Amino acid sequence: MFRNLLLYLAEHPGAKKFVLSSKTARQLSRRFVAGEKLADALSAAAALNRVGMTATLDRLGENVHTEAEARDAAAAYLGIFDRIREAGVNSNVSIKLTQLGLDLDSNLCRSSVAEIARRAERHGSFLRIDMEGSAHTERTLQLFREVRDHSPAVGIVIQSYLYRSESDVRDLLRAGARIRLCKGAYKEPREIAFPQKRQVNENFVKLMKMLLDSGFYHAIATHDPRMIDATTNYAAQQKIGRDRFEFQMLYGIRRDLQQQLMRDGYRMRIYIPYGTEWFPYFMRRLAERPANLFFVLKNILRR
Ligand code: FDA
Repeated sequence: MFRNLLLYLAEHPGAKKFVLSSKTARQLSRRFVAGEKLADALSAAAALNRVGMTATLDRLGENVHTEAEARDAAAAYLGIFDRIREAGVNSNVSIKLTQLGLDLDSNLCRSSVAEIARRAERHGSFLRIDMEGSAHTERTLQLFREVRDHSPAVGIVIQSYLYRSESDVRDLLRAGARIRLCKGAYKEPREIAFPQKRQVNENFVKLMKMLLDSGFYHAIATHDPRMIDATTNYAAQQKIGRDRFEFQMLYGIRRDLQQQLMRDGYRMRIYIPYGTEWFPYFMRRLAERPANLFFVLKNILRR
């Protein structure tokens, strides 16, 4: 119930205005967001590099309203790849297509993503296209395929809560695509997504095995110890090397587990969000774990 309410509020303009006006909420968002500036994200990435982890930067923002905003976002992403190289940080970049105008003009969005992917390739880096809510799944996959035909430095995300994901994974693997597997963070109807956590987890394990068996380099993105154990056990059983895939986790979540996996010799990439548009991201993180909400409320009431 909490999850649904928070995911509903994540897209509610009134809730956004209310939360953004709260200094406390902004401070608390720092638990999951590196800061408002690219420099904050780069220094978070450098700190992670020092302990052996890599990063992927996410400039927060989704659903722009004008083409000018979409073009600004594209220019910002080109600049991020340049700044990463200048800073000598080991990080790639994650983008959301709605921030690049997917809902406004798909041609503009496609040409921006293609240009960003070329920049990634030129810098020997990598561009990951995040997966948003199901209204965008098909278009995101389509655009990904078109861009990847010309640039291999781009990857995609698959959500194990969607029924369609198994068949999407099959298609993507046929094309040699690099996939980040996650459970899925949006509110989806039972007609298209598994309603129970147990089913989402079972599908996650099934898809994880397909990815590991493929021989391509994929990312297993989860903080769930059961999904992690299933992955490490399967890799050991199939004699798949620890350098043949990577785990990914979100900035600020389960740091203990991040370090443990690193110490055990697994690759660990941390997803670092930054920017002023932190509200929907913050709300999705609260929705994932009710204890986070109580932590926030406790702090707000204390002031
Ligand atoms: P689950 O939600 O079952 O949590 C397992 C355990 O992890 C919890 O018991 C708790 O200990 C810890 N945990 C999880 N979330 C927490 C939180 N917010 N705060 C504190 N502890 C928490 N989704 C999507 O739809 N599209 C995308 O592109 C991406 N991209 C992405 C990248 C990366 C690197 C990660 C790690 C995740 C995503 N996600 C995503 C989000 C993903 O779909 C999912 O919502 C979250 O990872 C939570 O699911 P878990 O697999 O961690 O399991």
